[in-house]
Amino acid sequence: MELPNLVLARKRTSNEVKKINYQLNEQYQNIGENKTFYVKTYGCQMNEHDSENIEGLLESIGFKKNPDMEKADIIILNTCSIRENAHNKAFGMLGRLKHLKEKHPEKIVALCGCMAQEEVVVREILKKHKHVNFVFGTHNLYDLPRLIYECVNSNKTNICVKSEEGDLVEGLPVTRVSKFKAYVNIIYGCDKFCTYCIVPYTRGKQRSRKMEDILDEVIKLKNDGYQEVTLLGQNVNAYGKDLNLGYDLADLLIKVSETGIPRVRFITSHPWDFTDRMIEVIKKYDNIMPYVHLPLQSGSDRILKLMGRRYTSSDYKQLFDKLKEIEGISITTDIIVGFPGETDDDFNETLDMVNYCKYDSAFTFIYSPRVGTPAAKLYENDPTTLEVKENRLYKLNELINNYSLESNKKMLNKEYLVLTEGVSTKEGMMWGYTETNKMVNFKGNEELIGKIVKVKILDAKSFSLDGELVE
Ligand code: SAH
Ligand code: SF4
Ligand code: F3S
Repeated sequence: MELPNLVLARKRTSNEVKKINYQLNEQYQNIGENKTFYVKTYGCQMNEHDSENIEGLLESIGFKKNPDMEKADIIILNTCSIRENAHNKAFGMLGRLKHLKEKHPEKIVALCGCMAQEEVVVREILKKHKHVNFVFGTHNLYDLPRLIYECVNSNKTNICVKSEEGDLVEGLPVTRVSKFKAYVNIIYGCDKFCTYCIVPYTRGKQRSRKMEDILDEVIKLKNDGYQEVTLLGQNVNAYGKDLNLGYDLADLLIKVSETGIPRVRFITSHPWDFTDRMIEVIKKYDNIMPYVHLPLQSGSDRILKLMGRRYTSSDYKQLFDKLKEIEGISITTDIIVGFPGETDDDFNETLDMVNYCKYDSAFTFIYSPRVGTPAAKLYENDPTTLEVKENRLYKLNELINNYSLESNKKMLNKEYLVLTEGVSTKEGMMWGYTETNKMVNFKGNEELIGKIVKVKILDAKSFSLDGELVE
């Protein structure tokens, strides 16, 4: 038993991060033979990619994927803690699985991901969800084969979650969802501690992968025919800072671009760590996509300060203007409404920023208190009602959608390169993404999947575009 611990999770020391090269213990090699798995993923791209590692690990010990959850021998929930509704979804699913396990006690149910790193969650599981066989955390995915092995001989819930600053694990097996676009982690964890956010506690200390390990992975992907890599991190712009090896995200982007992989993306950027050199590199290299996700969170300096975001609205505007100089760039954002104490004036300043930036699109959220974060204490005395917050969200979304439509309309009758991803629900139609990450539907056939094609835009909506193939 190793329970999560919030105090340890908050600690940051200058201790060196250990690099572990994953190796499968032979003892576990065949434990999944003739058995199947189902992995349910909640949350962000980081979790999606962790699930690719989880599936890789399961396949390495003999399990096969089962598209039907109810028939699988092992069910793993890879969870997200970012907001209350993510929590509720996972607990709802645990309720469903309780019934399944009553009928089939031999099935294994496990929970991992960000919720596994939370003390409150694990306590609730131990108390109310005894049908969960084991829980493992974001720092020790590699323990999965051992935990399955041990669970077969035990009828007690096993908790194996590490909260101390994580290690860096290289060489985990991976089963990628796509054959042509891939996620590549470049930096784990987060040290920013924005006051509303749970991620620094659930993902631990900021740890960059060595540039050579990242490049090896990208080169292999390119040789396997991949068309696109997305460099992943909670704050990719901080890449390399913790390594002190004299390189940063700009240097990494240059090297990744030079591998010749057709498309390079990176997500998420924190305004604080965005340097002019990074902007120059994005400008200069054609295969670095002109797309930046630049979370604003709020347009009010007072709220930004309470959030601990370390920039003012004027710093943000300056950076935004510089980024806008990149030809054809699209910029998207994240915004939280109803942070504790947000007034109408604060909210109007957020609307002002949206009017200034005219984002290509945005993810918008109502503030959700997370146990153990500083903002959760402010929330206890928050005078603003949920109704007011919902109205603000509605108003904000209307404005955002207008600007999305406006920016999409600018694309009408022009030609764009689209990486075809799949068959649309509309008959005879395919869908894919432009270099600027806009979704386009167009007539075509399945042979185009995984290929970059030219599409002329014929119709623009807020959330997607329609076009036709250009021969
Ligand atoms: N690392 C990224 C964001 C990761 S979380 C960054 O720093 O920008 C994705 C988004 O969820 C955040 O940008 C924020 O807008 C939102 N979010 C995070 N914590 C939240 C909370 N407690 N309530 C509501 N939204 C939250
Ligand atoms: Fe959360 Fe802030 Fe870190 Fe993003 S930068 S993951 S919002 S603490
Ligand atoms: Fe959720 Fe964890 Fe990602 S909290 S958003 S899955 S880092």
